[in-house]
Amino acid sequence: MSDTPRIVLLPGDGIGPEIVAAARRVLEALGEFEFSERLMGGCSIDAHGTALTDAVLAACRAADAVLLGAVGGPKWDTTDPEAPRPEQGLLGLRKGMGLYANLRPVRPSPALVDASPLRPEVIAGTDLLVVRELTGGIYFGDSGRDGGVAHDTCEYSAAEVERIAVAAFAAAERRAGGGGGGRVTSVDKANVLETSRLWREVVGGVAARFEAVALDHLLVDNAAMQLVSEPTRFDVIVTENMFGDILSDEAAMITGSLGMLPSASLGDGGPGVFEPVHGSAPDIAGSGVANPLETFLAVAMMLRDGLDDGAAAERVERAVEAALTDGLRTADLFTGAEGERRAGTAEMTAAVIAAL
Ligand code: NAD
Ligand code: IPM
Ligand code: MN
Repeated sequence: MSDTPRIVLLPGDGIGPEIVAAARRVLEALGEFEFSERLMGGCSIDAHGTALTDAVLAACRAADAVLLGAVGGPKWDTTDPEAPRPEQGLLGLRKGMGLYANLRPVRPSPALVDASPLRPEVIAGTDLLVVRELTGGIYFGDSGRDGGVAHDTCEYSAAEVERIAVAAFAAAERRAGGGGGGRVTSVDKANVLETSRLWREVVGGVAARFEAVALDHLLVDNAAMQLVSEPTRFDVIVTENMFGDILSDEAAMITGSLGMLPSASLGDGGPGVFEPVHGSAPDIAGSGVANPLETFLAVAMMLRDGLDDGAAAERVERAVEAALTDGLRTADLFTGAEGERRAGTAEMTAAVIAAL
């Protein structure tokens, strides 16, 4: 890595530019970074006719880390199979950078236990990690339309399953602090899908190489249910691309809001992409109310996992917690309880920077 970390910023669409600008201010308050801001998503379609240009992909590959806001919005929503879509940029970035492992940690802030629609006693103590396979499955299989018939194909190779399983078991080992006791829950639909039966077989094989980590298998419908009935039963969840997409939005609500879940997309070496899990929130874009905390938590993941600066990551995480403990709440987190104060994106950002 060069002395000054080189970060590509991909603000994207909707609230993306608002939360990435806020995150940039947090980084500038922390230290020296070299930023390069590039277009990806709907904004890139407007400028270049494609959601991700080769030049932007090359810039991301050459960076030390990439920080992404969100892409998409009604302006580019279409059912025309020929039209470019903002989401193609995100998928192209993941594939083009080899980012097969998407890590989404769910750890509700003690200050927010009342903000979740789930009862505090259900979510208290939740500390789980969703490890989502990110470059395979139905997202990347053959798809097409022939008149009134359409298809999307789900395909996985044993090698693709093996490397994401290894990532999940290694994460469980790390989280257990080397003392054993970690657990991986593999989520599939092996009662119906052939890809899931291959998945289950391969994950079982990888488990044998990680003796200190326990493994259990859950069918995805049951997993969706248990995530809200007993989230504390989970440690590391490993699952395929689409199941991971759906389960992680569900898991986000354990933290109180879709605005509180960060994510890291990693490959084998090379820069990672760090981003909030939520989308471009077109319904609130431009109104200054977007919750920037998830992007700040993604910045913390970038500092720790991408730039090897655990101390700076901790400063950001503590500052986020301090702003929340102080009572500041963006609209998505506000419950009206005593001690809470409504804050917009700017006020929340200033509070976090002040607490760094
Ligand atoms: P969304 O996540 O954008 O929004 C869902 C709800 O959560 C909305 O009510 C929104 O206002 C709220 N919300 C999301 N982030 C918030 C934040 N930071 N602060 C406060 N409230 C927040 O999902 P959607 O509406 O289904 O999708 C909108 C667009 O975003 C679509 O085009 C979709 O494809 C895209 N999308 C992009 C990404 C990404 O870039 N990583 C992820 C998901 C969806
Ligand atoms: C996510 C998003 C993306 C996905 C979309 C925008 C393609 O929902 O990062 O979770 O489905 O992976
Ligand atoms: Mn999603």
